[in-house]
Amino acid sequence: MKLVVIGCGYVGLVTGGCLAAAGHDVVATDNDSGKIASLQAGRIPIYEPHLDEVIASAQNAGRLRFTTDTGEAIRSGEVIFICVGTPPRETGEADLSAIDNVARLIAMEARSPKLVVEKSTVPAQTGQKLRRALNVYGRSSGLQFDVASNPEFLREGTGVGDFFHPDRIVVGVETPEADRQLREIYEPIVGGRFDCALHPHGCPASPDPEFLVTTIPSAELIKHASNSFLAMKISYANVIADLCERLGGNVEEVTRAMGLDPRIGRQFLNAGLGFGGFCLPKDIQAFIHLADQVGVDFSLLKEAERVNRQRIDRLMEKIRHHLWVVKDKQVGLLGLAFKPFTDDIRLAPALDVIRQLRAEGAKLRATDPEAMERTRAIFPEIAYSGDPYEVARGADALLVLTEWPQFKQLDWGRIHREMARPLILDARNMLDPLTMRLQGFEYDSFGRPAVDASVTAESAR
Ligand code: UDX
Repeated sequence: MKLVVIGCGYVGLVTGGCLAAAGHDVVATDNDSGKIASLQAGRIPIYEPHLDEVIASAQNAGRLRFTTDTGEAIRSGEVIFICVGTPPRETGEADLSAIDNVARLIAMEARSPKLVVEKSTVPAQTGQKLRRALNVYGRSSGLQFDVASNPEFLREGTGVGDFFHPDRIVVGVETPEADRQLREIYEPIVGGRFDCALHPHGCPASPDPEFLVTTIPSAELIKHASNSFLAMKISYANVIADLCERLGGNVEEVTRAMGLDPRIGRQFLNAGLGFGGFCLPKDIQAFIHLADQVGVDFSLLKEAERVNRQRIDRLMEKIRHHLWVVKDKQVGLLGLAFKPFTDDIRLAPALDVIRQLRAEGAKLRATDPEAMERTRAIFPEIAYSGDPYEVARGADALLVLTEWPQFKQLDWGRIHREMARPLILDARNMLDPLTMRLQGFEYDSFGRPAVDASVTAESAR
């Protein structure tokens, strides 16, 4: 099928690339001509594992092209995926002006009826407003537009795998024709008939994803409800971690046992610095705002957000406790991205930690495998190095802020020798407390008991 993707950000690129790999003809467009020029030249403006291979092979096969000519793109396809940004306003409410602009463009440029699919995360009821806008803006043409909602559940860092091997595909539709078109688009994914960049020798056997057809408001709600629930799970685990610290428990033992109950599940119960990124914090705020607007009390979610904000304070308390005076201390930062396998630092907890440490006069040196350049653009005054050992050199404390697996593999004996004071504050519970103590570190993390010297001596015997 001929498809159009409007918006070449993270969601648009993964959607366009993967749908082209699934055998569709895709034209992707964006109003940022620099971005389109770089995509045409084969440069992907974001770091996302496997996305470059997917896009390059679709371009080479002639199934994916990028253009700045949005009008031509709109006219070229039967189904248009809107993948533009919906950033939060100061109030937390989603800013839908980019969607409104795209609706106007589609209505003006289309010469035949289209199915317009919202892929951007939007508040419930946007679908109805989008249909109304398309029909108002396109009233002189007499064309009728069909609208659908097709929320994405892509996690940065594993987005390509999530697209090719989803748990579920949700489509909110108003007509049988929209249902038919979306089934046809996703048929290769549901039936496992596509070139999978992740498994060139055949994908491992797994159950086919559920293809769920709902109303448009349900589809819109499913996205917000899912992300908010994940955020609540993380905040819940973080409160349990605080309790463990006060009561002598170990959050990993507690959440592991909780997670073995299939009604709860193990994922998203990792305690630490809390959730960041552009989805969970933004979606939770938009959902709170939406609930307030329609008079539904969602204090539950407000608390999850408050708990998340406090994680930075909890880390700062630990830093002050261990360092006593923070001013002029040399602090090394391992990790800047909001999570591993991405260069995304939007609403990354590490940025708040940097702000606070700078306000208290610490001297900072930071490393991250992918996110240093983006962070340097915001904090040019701190020192950066691609070498974690250099970051540790002469440091009074080393903070783990993102759990990149390569940090786990570091030569910690060497890190110990490089540091002025071998103090590790592991805000992601990435390292094993006992191993760190045995290596001679002062080590602290979230919700896991400090291993005291006698235990350390006992284990060493
Ligand atoms: C999220 C959703 O998972 C995805 O389905 C949706 O489409 C977009 O939003 P993403 O923002 O890429 O994806 O990241 P995710 O893996 O959900 O992590 C979000 C944040 O939560 C990260 O900062 C991560 O470090 C943190 N986190 C996650 C925890 O602190 N503990 C956990 O147990 C899990």
